[in-house]
Amino acid sequence: MFENLEINSINTNRYIYVLNYTDQLKNLCDLEMKSIFGFIPTGKFFFSATKISSSRSIFIKSRMDITHIGNSLEDLVQSIEGDSLFYNDYKISYIKSNDNTIDYQERLKALRLIGFAIEGNFALQNPKIEFAVTKVNDQWMFGQYIINDHTWINHKQKPYNYSYALDHQLARSLVNLAIGNNPHIKVVDPCCGIGTIIIEGRELGINIKGYDINPNVVEKCNKNLQHFGFEDDIVHKSIQDITEPYDVAIVDLPYGKFSTTTLEEQRLIINKAKEIAHKVIFVSMVNLDSLLTSHGFEIIEGCFIKKRDKFSRYITICC
Ligand SMILES: C[S@@+](CC[C@H](N)C(=O)[O-])C[C@H]1O[C@@H](n2cnc3c(N)ncnc32)[C@H](O)[C@@H]1O
Repeated sequence: MFENLEINSINTNRYIYVLNYTDQLKNLCDLEMKSIFGFIPTGKFFFSATKISSSRSIFIKSRMDITHIGNSLEDLVQSIEGDSLFYNDYKISYIKSNDNTIDYQERLKALRLIGFAIEGNFALQNPKIEFAVTKVNDQWMFGQYIINDHTWINHKQKPYNYSYALDHQLARSLVNLAIGNNPHIKVVDPCCGIGTIIIEGRELGINIKGYDINPNVVEKCNKNLQHFGFEDDIVHKSIQDITEPYDVAIVDLPYGKFSTTTLEEQRLIINKAKEIAHKVIFVSMVNLDSLLTSHGFEIIEGCFIKKRDKFSRYITICC
């Protein structure tokens, strides 16, 4: 599954990414895009020199790999014809840029002309390969179009779940915040519960370890990992007994009415997280800023998310 982490920076902005997020999750998307691409996109359509799998983030709808550019539609078509492309069962879509000025008729014309320039059969249903065309700042662009395969949606159906578990989408986002643009980073989830974060990390092929103080939870977490074909290596251990160093810790603090963890125990967890990892991403129900700074953390950034009426969390990234 390491394909999902395919990262390859090139010198030109050869890639176009299309985002998909709700207003409620825009903060989280901004944070995630900044950690992966190094900037916050100004719209849902942006260029980058960084190549990542379009399936890596819940917020990425698709990636277009630009192969042909023209100053006019005719130029673009000529350039495509010059390459004598041949594909069977292909599909072409028009993708709208942030300041789309192309009307429906022109889009249709572009699709028709490019369709004529490619040899082979067109397939609206179940295409084997997809292409896209777009116009940005008077330039027409064409290239392969790769849509997010949303495999992570299957992770919702775990054999074991708990009311305090995070949802798989937030978990995937946290993993992306942890690794940014470096798939070799060593990550730990020291209070991993039934493994929502570990599952996303494993699917992305990163080096992520998990621990939990509750043996019953550890057993269920390992069964969840087995279910998805991942190594069931979660260790029954308190964070206080972890000695191995990590680059990043993702700490979903024990909280809420089902947790017996006291404020003092939370403080101990916060302290220990600082000891075992260079960077820590805390997930909490209350704003931890002053508590974290009182423990010597420097807060890098963070956001507050509210998904449904009942679900809200603070994400705080610190070192
Ligand atoms: C909020 S839950 C984590 C949920 C997890 N993110 C998930 O989605 O399943 C917090 C977990 O911390 C564990 N925990 C509490 N104190 C701990 C400690 N000192 N060391 C390790 N784990 C601890 C609890 O057993 C609980 O499973």
